[in-house]
Amino acid sequence: MAAAKEPQIITDKEQMRKWSREMRSQGKTISLVPTMGYLHEGHLSLVREARKDTHLVVVSIYVNPGQFSPTEDLSTYPSDFHGDLLKLASVPGGVDVVFHPQNLYDTKDCRKGSRGGGGGMVSCLEEKGMGHQTWVRVEKLEKGLCGKSRPVFFRGVATVVTKLFNIVEPDVAVFGKKDYQQWRIIQRMVQDLDFPIEVIGSEIRRDDNGLALSSRNVHLSPEERKKALSISRSLLMAKASVEKGQVNCRELRDLVIQEIHNAGGRVDYAEIVDQESLEEVEEIRSPVVFCIAAWFGKVRLIDNIEIKI
Ligand code: PAJ
Repeated sequence: MAAAKEPQIITDKEQMRKWSREMRSQGKTISLVPTMGYLHEGHLSLVREARKDTHLVVVSIYVNPGQFSPTEDLSTYPSDFHGDLLKLASVPGGVDVVFHPQNLYDTKDCRKGSRGGGGGMVSCLEEKGMGHQTWVRVEKLEKGLCGKSRPVFFRGVATVVTKLFNIVEPDVAVFGKKDYQQWRIIQRMVQDLDFPIEVIGSEIRRDDNGLALSSRNVHLSPEERKKALSISRSLLMAKASVEKGQVNCRELRDLVIQEIHNAGGRVDYAEIVDQESLEEVEEIRSPVVFCIAAWFGKVRLIDNIEIKI
């Protein structure tokens, strides 16, 4: 067996940009897989996808404070950098660079000046009074689904991904459809802001029981993990129901909400939306995606299923 390839670890953004520019000047193409670490098979599937698309693969590992609100789980977000490196080395072809910055924001304390900005939105950055002021907003797509209960989230994601795109300058960026709204937002941002980057959406990876893989699954107790299977089970039930002719979204939503509720979960939202605009539909007449967020104990999980008619 070939020895696993050790990635180069770059922590400095100038050095990262220099590496990318050097490689591109040699005619090499680069994929970027942005992550927050604590990698699992879902992340590794994105790396395998990236390996097919370009000569070189960069994986970024950075837990972005700009996308967490002060009440969310930034401080308990799991991490295992050493384990992540071993997992990345196990992917055939490995990865070329792991970009692991300590901080991507202006950390100068500006609490003495006026705070605010950001339309009253407060992420962990504003809370710390940091100097960063510039945000990227994908105004319509960020509003629904996860945007309702996590109002600062997509502003933070679009901004950090913009920063990563500017630092790494990739040809291709790979995102998971597990975070469907995030993927669509990045696609839209790239289109609207003319980033010369191809955005690829990669299929959801699940465990053998159907639970969508997520770094947050580690916080589920064995009991909660069993209960959480109601999410993927109910999505499959809804899809089967559509295949038998059900097009009424209210009935499909009720089916799913009931199933998750009976299992002991608390539904944040269960919505059937157009695959591109993410606008809610009442009847299924064109390709849709059924998106769910639900709480099991203290863990909020998201999942979705694409339904073509
Ligand atoms: P993170 O949650 O670490 O996810 C990194 C990438 O892995 C995302 O594109 C996500 O959709 C994908 N992913 C996660 N679980 C998956 C699964 N089960 N199957 C397929 N893909 C999966 O998403 C983020 O980080 C951040 O918001 C980020 C984009 C890095 C910006 O900070």
